[in-house]
Amino acid sequence: MTTDEMQAQLLKAVQGLKTQVTNRESLSATIDWNKKVTVAQPVKIGSQTKDELLNAVCQEMGDCQCCPLGKTRKNLVFGQGNPEARIVFVGEAPGADEDEQGLPFVGRAGQLLTDIIVKGMKIQRKDVYICNILKCRPPGNRNPQPEEIGQCEPFLKKQLRIISPEIICALGTFAAKTLLKTDIPISVLRGRFHSYEGIKLMPTYHPAYLLRNPSAKKQVWEDVQMIMKEVNL
Ligand code: URA
Repeated sequence: MTTDEMQAQLLKAVQGLKTQVTNRESLSATIDWNKKVTVAQPVKIGSQTKDELLNAVCQEMGDCQCCPLGKTRKNLVFGQGNPEARIVFVGEAPGADEDEQGLPFVGRAGQLLTDIIVKGMKIQRKDVYICNILKCRPPGNRNPQPEEIGQCEPFLKKQLRIISPEIICALGTFAAKTLLKTDIPISVLRGRFHSYEGIKLMPTYHPAYLLRNPSAKKQVWEDVQMIMKEVNL
């Protein structure tokens, strides 16, 4: 190799290195330590936060004995999640695991709902709010009775008014029928938005139904994608 050739190769290598360094510098963020960062403040309704208002409703329910389920439950399952959630999932009623832990959707169906939220929607479970039509477990997981729904619904209404989400996802027949006041089957209701007190409501199949009918997951995914689109996820 001649001296000229060596010089040309060296120059090329130095130029390549310079380009790499320049690119890295332009990619790395410059941190402005003096810049003021705005931390989102909890939304207040009057003088109280949504969290405080929800706690007040939970206190109001206390050791609720409005219906006979008060005698048979282990724990009242009020709800769980972000009081300022943009999306609220409403299920049917606590099952054995939920009754045991006092938390909604923590059993097998709950794991599937969590997967839908975390793996499908790519958000965290704590970012949404999860609750049920009934706050107490019907013995043997039987269907909720109209009288039980009638006694429990006012508390759900209060929860939804306080959270005032952008979207409600009604999981299964009982949630959809109760919130929309209709007898139209979930298979007909799902796949489009309805209105619940001015809030967009998407009915879809219950996760427990999906455990028995995995082929319906495709339709639930379609419904969930419509929700994601609506809230720009
Ligand atoms: N099924 C429901 O509808 N709700 C729960 O919390 C658990 C299972």
